[in-house]
Amino acid sequence: MRILVINGPNLNLLGRRQPEVYGTTTLAQIEERLAQRARELDVEVACFQTNHEGEMVDLIQREGERAQGIIINPGAFTHYSYAVRDALESVGRPVVEVHLSNIHAREGFRRRSVVAPIALGQVSGLGWRGYLVALEALVGILREEGA
Ligand code: DQA
Repeated sequence: MRILVINGPNLNLLGRRQPEVYGTTTLAQIEERLAQRARELDVEVACFQTNHEGEMVDLIQREGERAQGIIINPGAFTHYSYAVRDALESVGRPVVEVHLSNIHAREGFRRRSVVAPIALGQVSGLGWRGYLVALEALVGILREEGA
């Protein structure tokens, strides 16, 4: 089983970007922890990061087809990118949306996610652990469905 993991704009700066909000763990460390948990679960994770909306759409189209499920932190695209939302919907794979911070407890514009209505679920506010929660849930759900 292959799970696609996509991180959006500015998440390449994790570790030094507003550590009081996003923590001190780097994206490379998160991806390593995901890969380790994936090995334990006997699944494969394919991790990507992009700062560009069009590239995120390309990634979802290209890599989404090769995966059984998608974990995505779309960064600020979460709040306004209908293109990312449509790409996720088009590829037809179960999506878990992840946010390091609790987007419901921050500025008003962050409370709305245009991705959430087409997602299986959302993990928000658990820091880097949210990615592991998303992986475990997604793999469990896919296995139950017989994927
Ligand atoms: C984020 C929350 C978004 O509002 C923000 O634009 C990000 C990161 C999070 O992981 O908490 O870039 O998705």
